[in-house]
Amino acid sequence: MNQLPKGEDVRKADHPIEKIFLQRWSPRAMSGEPISEQEMLTLFEAARWAPSTYNEQEWRFLYARRETPHWLAFFDLLVERNQAWCAKAALLSVIVAHKVFESNKKPNPVHAFDSGLAYENLALQGAAMGLVVHAMQGFDFEGARKSLAVPDDYAVCAMFAAGRPGNPGDLPAETREREKPSLRKPVREIICEGSFK
Ligand SMILES: Cc1cc2nc3c(=O)[nH]c(=O)nc-3n(C[C@H](O)[C@H](O)[C@H](O)COP(=O)(O)O)c2cc1C
Repeated sequence: MNQLPKGEDVRKADHPIEKIFLQRWSPRAMSGEPISEQEMLTLFEAARWAPSTYNEQEWRFLYARRETPHWLAFFDLLVERNQAWCAKAALLSVIVAHKVFESNKKPNPVHAFDSGLAYENLALQGAAMGLVVHAMQGFDFEGARKSLAVPDDYAVCAMFAAGRPGNPGDLPAETREREKPSLRKPVREIICEGSFK
């Protein structure tokens, strides 16, 4: 296997949806090539237009590009299993979310939800650009707070890696086997008319 499978070749929707939802998946194989500043800004631009409660835009994206002095601080946060494939990423980012409303400092119950919406915008934009974008929870959350000086009123939500697609054959054996678009539960299993069943 030396080419990443295409999401839309493996996944079939049961109901008509836009192609991009099937195209987006989370590969791990990246080439190690950089992405341009403009490509990176385009990814974050997509995140910028996500909806949020009261248009709070409570997400913040801390980032490091490879070959910069910031890289190691981000890379060191990852668990080994993620480091194994993120070594060839072009961009690592820690997503943080303001936990309180800017206007009155009261708790914002949907800070993480809103930040997830922003990430998904970014991931879909990346898929449309033919880039790899892959979210991660396998990292040191408290370490991120400390080493990146995240203030107490911000939650550390997740990390993601982005880069140019690479050769799945170069991945460690265990990861290589999982390098394919996954499937989903049927829609009837994730919806309930009325109360929870
Ligand atoms: C918040 C979040 C955390 C994740 N954490 C990891 C991770 O630490 N390591 C990893 O290899 N994949 C991680 N993933 C990727 C998921 O396993 C993947 O999104 C899921 O299996 C669905 O596959 P798809 O994104 O290819 O459609 C994470 C995804 C999300 C959304």
